[in-house]
Amino acid sequence: MINLQENRTTSSIIVLMMAMVIGVGSIIYTNSLVSRILAQEEQQTSIFAKVQEYIATVEAGENINTLIEVIDANYTYPVILTDEKDKVLGHRNIRIPKAKDSLAYLAAELAEMKAAHPPIVVEPAPGLKNLIYYKNSDLVVQLKYYPYVELLIISLFFGIVYVLFNASRKAEQNKVWVGLAKETAHQLGTPISSLMAWMEYFKADESLDESIIGEIEKDVLRLEMITARFSSIGSPPVLKFENVEQLVKDNIDYLQKRISTKVQISVKNLEGMALGAPLNRSLFEWVIENICKNAVDAMGGIGKINISLSYTRDSKQVQIDISDTGKGIPKSLWKQIFKPGYTTKKRGWGLGLTLAKRIVKDYHKGNIFILSSVPNEGTTFRILLPRF
Ligand SMILES: Nc1ncnc2c1ncn2[C@@H]1O[C@H](COP(=O)(O)OP(=O)(O)OP(=O)(O)O)[C@@H](O)[C@H]1O
Ligand SMILES: [Mg+2]
Repeated sequence: MINLQENRTTSSIIVLMMAMVIGVGSIIYTNSLVSRILAQEEQQTSIFAKVQEYIATVEAGENINTLIEVIDANYTYPVILTDEKDKVLGHRNIRIPKAKDSLAYLAAELAEMKAAHPPIVVEPAPGLKNLIYYKNSDLVVQLKYYPYVELLIISLFFGIVYVLFNASRKAEQNKVWVGLAKETAHQLGTPISSLMAWMEYFKADESLDESIIGEIEKDVLRLEMITARFSSIGSPPVLKFENVEQLVKDNIDYLQKRISTKVQISVKNLEGMALGAPLNRSLFEWVIENICKNAVDAMGGIGKINISLSYTRDSKQVQIDISDTGKGIPKSLWKQIFKPGYTTKKRGWGLGLTLAKRIVKDYHKGNIFILSSVPNEGTTFRILLPRF
């Protein structure tokens, strides 16, 4: 089983997991940084408290300014000192905006600090209690949010890379498709025209059976048409208003003679009137052919293919349901089978349905999907084609 899809999915999963490891790793690291800084700030607060007590006990005239300076330089978080009744006695590291009423501003800060941490109680004199309120410095607050901001940036980055990468890969794939198809058409051209010349030669020979020559000629013409399909890939499609029932029937007539006689194909028009839609005949025949061939393979060459044609309920689209009595497709594979390279056949390329989807969606602005599938009972593919 060829599966190009799997490699791609595995590498995307690896990239995603790496991104997650980076993200989670940075959250853990930053969190540990934050808690270390917090611990440090708490320690500094208790030093501050001790200093307050010390200041209260030193004899008048002793020089304590240097001590205060050292302590001040060492902490960056906002602090408010109050008495027991929450009257503000002093503050550090709080910048009061000029336009604001300083008392009201401090009261608001104090409320915030109360919510953040319990105060540290100091006793500057026996029986006298002061309270030191504090909150985290801006630095710690910023650091706390940093990993989430970082995670957001990383996800955005990966998102953008993925979109760009995907777009360029698709463009590349398209070029390969078109190049391959056109080259194939070009190479087939010479032997086909030589086969045509041989047909004329055989037709002139009366000893050969005419009906056989007729059938061979049909095949050669068919080859010529297939070549035309290949060379039309990549060029803007020319759509013509066609009778869908007639087109499908012509196609089936041709196919029926070339597949197992034990497969019966029937075409039913449920509307009882002509169903028309703009189509590119040679491309669309390819779709019907691919789906029918898959159906024949899925039934092991014995069974029934029923094609029913109708309009959708809103009358905006033609609906073509192709059912087989084959082995069915597990629901988990309903999307996968349309991806290039997915095949379960020894000699398959896994391209039939990819091309069918491309033709229906890109060239006809329609849709193709599995409508239902039951193991060992059969599968129904649905094609929707806009009528206008
Ligand atoms: N009607 C069906 N019933 C059951 N399985 C199906 C049916 N149609 C398609 N599949 C599954 O989907 C796979 C992909 O089909 P697809 O036509 O894209 O490639 P393929 O037939 O394997 O190769 P090729 O490129 O020659 O068409 C098949 O190999 C088969 O496993
Ligand atoms: Mg196929």
